[in-house]
Amino acid sequence: MASIPSDRRFDSTWGFLRDPYRFISQRCDDLHADVIESRLLLQRTILMRGLEATKLFYDPDKFVRKGAAPRAVQKTLFGMGGIQGLDDDAHRHRKELFLTVVTRERVAALNSKFTEWWEVYAGRWQDKKPFALYGELQKLLCRTVSDWAGVPLPEGDLEMRTRQLASLYDQAGSVGPQHLRSRWARNRCDRWIASVIRSHRTGRLNLPADSPAHLIAHHRDIDGHLLSEHTAAVELINILRPTIAVSVYILFVALTLHNHPRYRAFALESERNRFYFAEEVRRYYPFFPATAARVRDDFEWNGLSFHKGRRVMLDLYGTNHDSRIFEEPYEFRPERFAEKTYDLFSPIPQGGGDRRITHRCPGEDITLTLMSTALLMLQRGMTYEVPEQNLNIDFRRLPALPHSRFMVRGVKVVDHLAARERAGLHLEPR
Ligand code: HEM
Repeated sequence: MASIPSDRRFDSTWGFLRDPYRFISQRCDDLHADVIESRLLLQRTILMRGLEATKLFYDPDKFVRKGAAPRAVQKTLFGMGGIQGLDDDAHRHRKELFLTVVTRERVAALNSKFTEWWEVYAGRWQDKKPFALYGELQKLLCRTVSDWAGVPLPEGDLEMRTRQLASLYDQAGSVGPQHLRSRWARNRCDRWIASVIRSHRTGRLNLPADSPAHLIAHHRDIDGHLLSEHTAAVELINILRPTIAVSVYILFVALTLHNHPRYRAFALESERNRFYFAEEVRRYYPFFPATAARVRDDFEWNGLSFHKGRRVMLDLYGTNHDSRIFEEPYEFRPERFAEKTYDLFSPIPQGGGDRRITHRCPGEDITLTLMSTALLMLQRGMTYEVPEQNLNIDFRRLPALPHSRFMVRGVKVVDHLAARERAGLHLEPR
């Protein structure tokens, strides 16, 4: 039985933090293997990449999530006690809750709200001096998702709550004071949303029936008990936070329209093309570099020994740029999705496998839908200029972003009803 090739360094945590998106692939290249071992946060960690490794990683019989995520991630990005750390029946039961929240009808309702709020925000952007699109998109998405989810959010609190919710993903991967800000924000968000759940349960706040907040407040865990206020808050935040994070992908949509103007017409041609465009943005650009699990029980795979309890990380970014899966992976080419059908294990920007069973993201329909709508609104709903700026992507930060956060100026709103018509968005008037 061969042992897993090891990179032999005492600890590679700094190596990972210095170059989080390329770290695993580079170490794998160095050792000429798709499965290697390294030491991260002073723990031996198996690092994997590629299609076969992805299929293995998403076999729920082989790995568990309990205790897999580093504490720093649980205390910021995930929150304590949420779905990310559950396994087996408890996980599948909680997953059903999320899949109920993201039905076709609810995603369509979210998209209608997003379109309406985009129109309102675009109106405000007309009067603004040059501004960073990223921060505005976060506010727009925070407004949209809180309305849709049924979470009361007075306009006067919007900036503060947007900052706090965004900090949970935008500063979680930093070190030092920024990370501490993310922990502080987690505290504030947990308390805020727990108070919403409490007020509803004690009859002081009426949440719209069937809204995501209502569904979560009334959800019963596998043991038949209501979720604790804290866990319900963590799960509701598990919907609010990542929907605001779609701002990162929308920023990359805007960047692509700017850097690859030949794809503008392609995106306007059909709904299908917009889907391919959004898919390619998610494959091509960085977001989460990797995801983690632990070996459930000792097993052997392709002649390698996996030992119970060992932490395992799957390289999401590297696998999305694996030339054995994607021809010319560093080219932005949405047509690739028309030319070839990919399966549940590639690309994996939001995880892989059957989302009902694995920890694959339940929010992909939301993500792709909002990205497609943004693609239309950026082209049909308004015109704008992109001044000279540093649009290079900072790959050392998590999540990676263009240095300038995409500055725009001179926004002019195009007639909305006409834009909707052209965009094929058949929305009820407000
Ligand atoms: C920027 C867009 C998004 C990205 C890049 C993203 C990425 C991911 C990734 C990588 C995972 C973990 C997969 C794994 O560990 O195997 C995940 C899980 C999850 N995502 Fe997303 N996601 C996004 C949007 C959303 C949205 C809009 C929602 C709202 C419903 C959402 C809710 C969740 C939840 C609840 C989980 C945990 C699922 C589980 O443990 O079974 N995400 N996401």
